[in-house]
Amino acid sequence: MKEEAGQVFQKRLERHHDELRWLYMELYGNDSMFAELCDHMWQFYTERKARLKEDDAGREKDGGWYRRNDMLGMMFYIDNFAGNMKGVEAKLDYISGCNVNYIHLMPFLDTPKGRSDGGYAVSDFRKVQENLGTMEDLESLTAACRERGIHVCMDFVMNHTSEEHEWAKKARGGDGEYMSRYFFFDNPEEPARYERTVPQVFPTTAPGNFTWLPDAGHYVMTSFYPYQWDLNYKNPRVFNEMMYNFLYLANRGIDIIRIDAVPYIWKELNTQCRNLPQVHTIVRMMRMISEIVCPGVLLLGEVVMEPEKVTPYFGTVEKPECHMLYNVTTMATTWHTVATRDVKLLKKQLDTVNALPKDYVFLNYLRCHDDIGWGLDYGTLRMDGMEERAHKKYLNDYFQGYAGGSNSRGELYNADPTTGDARFCGTTASMCGVEKALEEQDGAALERAVNLDLMLHAYMFLQSGIPVLYGGDEIGQLNDYGYKEDPDKAEDSRYLHRGPMDWKRAERAGDADTLEGKIFRGLGRLERIRKTEKVFVSCADTWTVETGNPSVLCMGRHYDGEQLIGVFNFSEEGKMVRLGEDGGSYLDLLSGEVCRTAEIRLPGYGFYYLKKR
Ligand code: GLC
Repeated sequence: MKEEAGQVFQKRLERHHDELRWLYMELYGNDSMFAELCDHMWQFYTERKARLKEDDAGREKDGGWYRRNDMLGMMFYIDNFAGNMKGVEAKLDYISGCNVNYIHLMPFLDTPKGRSDGGYAVSDFRKVQENLGTMEDLESLTAACRERGIHVCMDFVMNHTSEEHEWAKKARGGDGEYMSRYFFFDNPEEPARYERTVPQVFPTTAPGNFTWLPDAGHYVMTSFYPYQWDLNYKNPRVFNEMMYNFLYLANRGIDIIRIDAVPYIWKELNTQCRNLPQVHTIVRMMRMISEIVCPGVLLLGEVVMEPEKVTPYFGTVEKPECHMLYNVTTMATTWHTVATRDVKLLKKQLDTVNALPKDYVFLNYLRCHDDIGWGLDYGTLRMDGMEERAHKKYLNDYFQGYAGGSNSRGELYNADPTTGDARFCGTTASMCGVEKALEEQDGAALERAVNLDLMLHAYMFLQSGIPVLYGGDEIGQLNDYGYKEDPDKAEDSRYLHRGPMDWKRAERAGDADTLEGKIFRGLGRLERIRKTEKVFVSCADTWTVETGNPSVLCMGRHYDGEQLIGVFNFSEEGKMVRLGEDGGSYLDLLSGEVCRTAEIRLPGYGFYYLKKR
């Protein structure tokens, strides 16, 4: 048996060895560190549980296992959702009841209270935050999920550590070996040279890219918050140790590793310190390392940038990097469409995505734990007279509820007075108008808001890839203004849409007469259609159709002889559209009625899933 296991590992290692060694030597030129990496890979392989290896083997054979049409994700903070890891385990029935088979547990590793950036400042990669549980609880949770066919995703925050990480503490104490794991400078000139070309991530909440440490007499590079110290991947010790952390976590039963802030992990003077070629070398090495030790694990890259910068993270067919990436421009363009009631830019964006190779798997979403940045195609918008600065202001005014007949509620994020730039925070339901309608006790407005919320989900589900809901959105969770009372959170408006799950409201999810029931049941119907109709597989042919109406989007999918078109009205007014010449008769999958595409009547914020007969 041992011999056999050794052969499996050897075969995988042989497949990748030359390329892995080549890339490693190119970056580090260090033979003995490479040998150490290989030894540790074997070590982690031998420690990997039989059950995980079984799934590795199955997934290796069925490389498309995550492209199925039944994949549906949900992301949540463990404490907000269910108190702790055990609490999440106790909620698995609820999760399955949401048709969800992929959960993203937001950062749960050890992090200093009040200086955590929502857990994205890790002080120990091998310890769970005490209030959330232990590594054993994590393993018990992932094992329970595995039995139910629920895949578990976690963040791997590899760009930086918390200032409380033991490396950082030693570095701060002046230990040169540890200082070399970060970027330390004993003079202000070098940081100033970087600042000339490096943009800012948090211009208001954490301006600049360096932090002065008076006790250490040094500056340290901190692209994010001052307590998040950037790791120096030029040091092979950093790369090796972080890969060991990655494999350690993979061995706890994690299925999807979200590589946090991946474009930032390599820095060079006189560059933007983003998307440098060495980043791709590192991600490619990670992909090979995981294919050798734990091929059942997927890499999800967090690249919140314009499309040209995102897709390179898929790598190439021969040299793949990430399995999955966020469809971030489509997400932002969706909200632009809500605010303008004009689908033109969205159609163009979907055409761009539809033209990409079908093996690319995108993670689709309406919102996540982060702000919405208005990264739109301003070149195209300019042709219609929309200037970037003015349009961003319009969108921010709109979603705060100030402009354009808006019913949205939410808050700005990192409003930068010098550039006039700001991003946006709010839950899906609040941005759709649910919060305002409830406040004003306006029944008709509430109905409109729910319709918009459901239409947006229906449209999102029709995109290729894996849709991911933010936990609570399935019952129309509203903005949570409580964060303002907590001094640790008050400065960071992203907490507005990270509020605790309201289980009292969730109890009403089964009742069709309640707000929660309308959204929950509405989503449930869509999710069931999505998982039964094979045209929803990620690799289907997809296209958009011109509807002749600026507010109505039409998308088609074709797979294995079946065809489905989705029609979505982004306006609160009823619309009538003709979809070309009469393309035959269709079955409306929601009502079960038969219709023809020659003339389709859509109510305000209405939509159809029409299956060709
Ligand atoms: C990612 C996370 C974000 C965090 C940042 C720094 O962008 O999504 O929440 O602030 O990384 O780790």
